[in-house]
Amino acid sequence: MTRKKITVVGAGNVGATTAHIAAGRDLGDVVLVDIIEGFAAGKALDISESAGVYPFSCGVSGAVDWQAAAGSDVVIITSGLARKPGMSRDDLVAKNTKIVQSVCRHVAEQCPEAFVIVVCNPLDAMVYTAARTTGFPANRIMGMAGALDSARFAYFISEALGVSCGDIAGVLMGGHGDDMVPLPRYTAVAGIPLTELMDADRIAALIDRTRNGGIEIVNLLGYSAYYAPAAGAVKMAEAILKDKKSVMSCCAWCDKEYGVGGAFVGVPVVLGSKGVEKVIELDLNNDEKTAFAESVQHVKRLTAKIDELL
Ligand code: LAC
Repeated sequence: MTRKKITVVGAGNVGATTAHIAAGRDLGDVVLVDIIEGFAAGKALDISESAGVYPFSCGVSGAVDWQAAAGSDVVIITSGLARKPGMSRDDLVAKNTKIVQSVCRHVAEQCPEAFVIVVCNPLDAMVYTAARTTGFPANRIMGMAGALDSARFAYFISEALGVSCGDIAGVLMGGHGDDMVPLPRYTAVAGIPLTELMDADRIAALIDRTRNGGIEIVNLLGYSAYYAPAAGAVKMAEAILKDKKSVMSCCAWCDKEYGVGGAFVGVPVVLGSKGVEKVIELDLNNDEKTAFAESVQHVKRLTAKIDELL
């Protein structure tokens, strides 16, 4: 059996960490692509050498030339500018649209059958950019946000309750912005509804911290997070490559679903060998519907800007 091939675009913090985690999990041969000469090759060599300590079998290589990515099964796009203190994700839109457009032209040419996982910001708008540029069917284009935002929510809950993070599963919807919609009604600790374990005020405080989870790290580091974002991207790639039929939140195309009317936005999905195999429609209550609709409107306003830029 030939190994799967995963291309990670951008060898910066998120890209290199993604490559490291994917290699460590032996998901397939990993190719890091970066425009800076020697950068991807250097990171790839360092990651490869780590196999002498904690072994893995797949290869890790780095390249400037896109031919190295040819025929990839999954492409994870991490390239683009990241936030600095004082910036919102939306401030990145003009520059990152051009970067994602340029990357996606190469993806369409070299990896026409690939599943594309976008990680750069503003996330939902960059997924739309990738879809428009590649022309790939919607089941093969998705964004990593829900995996990260629900991981943050889970971590904050685990810390507050003193329970294992691994026992917490939740759903988070909407765009990857300040108006994202964590859903406590659909969050449980080993099956026990969160709403039975915490009062509403405490839950509201954790939702607020989750919404600001990205900027909390930007303010500490001076640049944006990468360990948890990379882990989220690898989780999605693994679900696809191993046909796991994993249920998780991710940025996926919704038309009739939730009455979105055509936008890439965060929803619970089934991820398997066909990519986004299904959007799961929850019976939201009125408050949840309103919060989701507001977040979708925000994403649509940003997407309209992309239409002018492309
Ligand atoms: C964050 C960035 C990666 O949420 O969007 O940390």
